Amino acid sequence: MYNFHDDNDLDIIAHFGDDYEKHNDAVIPPIYMTSLHVTPKEAVGGPPREYFYGRGDNPTVELFEKKIAALERAEHALAFGSGMAAISSCLLANLSAGDHVVAVDTAYGPTRMFISQHLGKFGIENTFIPGDDIAQFEAACRPNTKVFYLESPSSMVFLLQDLRAVAALAAKRGVVTMIDNSWATPLYQKPITLGVDISIHTVSKYIGGHSDIIAGVASMNGEEMWSRVRDVRSQFGGILGPMEGWLATRGLRSMPLRIREHGRSALEIARRLETHPNIARVRHPGLDSDPGHGLAVRQMAGFTSPFSIELRCGTEGAREFVKRLKCFNLGPSWGGFESMVTMPYPIMPDAPQSNLIRLHIGLEDTETLYADLTASLNEINK
Ligand SMILES: Cc1ncc(COP(=O)(O)O)c(C=O)c1O
Repeated sequence: MYNFHDDNDLDIIAHFGDDYEKHNDAVIPPIYMTSLHVTPKEAVGGPPREYFYGRGDNPTVELFEKKIAALERAEHALAFGSGMAAISSCLLANLSAGDHVVAVDTAYGPTRMFISQHLGKFGIENTFIPGDDIAQFEAACRPNTKVFYLESPSSMVFLLQDLRAVAALAAKRGVVTMIDNSWATPLYQKPITLGVDISIHTVSKYIGGHSDIIAGVASMNGEEMWSRVRDVRSQFGGILGPMEGWLATRGLRSMPLRIREHGRSALEIARRLETHPNIARVRHPGLDSDPGHGLAVRQMAGFTSPFSIELRCGTEGAREFVKRLKCFNLGPSWGGFESMVTMPYPIMPDAPQSNLIRLHIGLEDTETLYADLTASLNEINK
């Protein structure tokens, strides 16, 4: 048996929880493709057993949860059928009618819609702030504030929040903090160690990594918080399926190598694009020029992709730029092996501006991607 270290991320990913002896020494634990675990008759009326009904727990999903919790340095993790299921369940578990949530206004669009539309429908108030200054959190707080919702870096304009400072303020006021940690992955940012209560990922991005699953996961400390979120998962029926749980673990096993390459290639391209005459600004927290760079270096251990560029042209020029790209698929996702381009303006009515383009740098050749981008950029305003 491999002698792994349970505080080393690479060891955790490769070996933690892979109980060889339990599974006939299989190096890959099997998929428990079952909806049900039956109870031996002699145990009737006794205490609940570890596995019972698949809407509550599944051993394949649990292996994935164990690895994520270990990576986040959290006591527990719960996996969901999507990132949005994880986000909405954590919010629902911590808010009631009459409460107030403070959320960053650059968070993922459907998250903001869930907070303003659905939670609003049940009498939960909200305030959206940029979140790049701790004073904004202080100012937004009300006596009924129960949750600070963060996304750092945010996934369209890549703004950061000071996680230590927000968590300290929240602790003082008895507010629960949660963060969408998807961009950084559990390898490059460990919010729980900085005092944040719940760290959430869309597993559909880097953790899955192959653009073939929709999944989510939330990590947290404490039996009480775990059981509150788990109850919502069980009652809304949002648990991750066993096949997706198995694929999520498989994706996770190669994530360290993938994000290293995504990050290297993205930063290289971002640096070069900064000097292109048809680009007004490149937003990537890994760039020295980025206003969030100092904080990024303090609270993250590495950088991934995507990043965004502001073109020196209007909406029509930006559309033409996207149309001319040959190596970037157009679509809303990121974190997969393939390069993607997103133009948020037409799909999100409150998108920051019409000439903002998000690029996800995939695992294709850096020079090929850069040449494609510059060929298209050079045509702007001709
Ligand atoms: C930053 C971010 N958070 C959450 C989500 C939602 O994840 P899912 O699509 O797995 O529900 C997404 C999806 O694009 C995202 O980009």
